[in-house]
Amino acid sequence: MRFADVLRRRRMVRRYTADPIPSDALERILDAATRGPSAGWSQGISVIGITGREAITAVADACGEEQYLAKGFDPWISTAGALVVLCVEPAVYRARYAEDDKDPASLGRIPWWWVDGGAALMALLLAAVDEGLAAGFHGGAGIDRVAEILAVPAEVEIIGVVTIGHPAPDRRSGSLARGRRTGRIHHQAW
Ligand SMILES: Cc1cc2nc3c(=O)[nH]c(=O)nc-3n(C[C@H](O)[C@H](O)[C@H](O)COP(=O)(O)O)c2cc1C
Repeated sequence: MRFADVLRRRRMVRRYTADPIPSDALERILDAATRGPSAGWSQGISVIGITGREAITAVADACGEEQYLAKGFDPWISTAGALVVLCVEPAVYRARYAEDDKDPASLGRIPWWWVDGGAALMALLLAAVDEGLAAGFHGGAGIDRVAEILAVPAEVEIIGVVTIGHPAPDRRSGSLARGRRTGRIHHQAW
């Protein structure tokens, strides 16, 4: 698929059909998360791929899927063919920026792990579209419980849960009613 089409087609999809995700496609999507840029080439981003039905249901419950239902959304996280839990290890960045060729102070201005996390998230979302699939992102409630269920070590931060599957008709986020904010592209100076 052309890059422009992948970018244009990407949107958060919050409901999926029961069709399975080919395991090689999922592996390519997981791999995409590790292909982004990384500050100092620290590479502190990790992913946990989840495909078991029981585990997906447990994570959906932990994320408070019923709260989405209460707001009028369809069952979402529990319908995904796979979940990808996006994780970051700040300690990996701190160790890298303590090396001789780096300035630890530069981690004070912007914690680069969040920037790498955003790049990894976008790579994941676009890779799903490129595979003919769709993806969504839950960054809200229940992340501490997800960490418990998946035995994520205390020093690892979970950025959120990416849901992947074959798209089904879904209710879109009310946030989209805000429309596109204009005036964000500047030329030559702000
Ligand atoms: C950092 C981040 C956190 C988000 N968290 C959630 C979330 O917890 N639940 C949800 O339904 N959507 C979440 N979204 C999706 C946004 O609502 C969505 O990207 C936005 O409304 C634009 O819609 P689109 O991505 O379909 O174009 C999140 C998006 C981002 C980038």
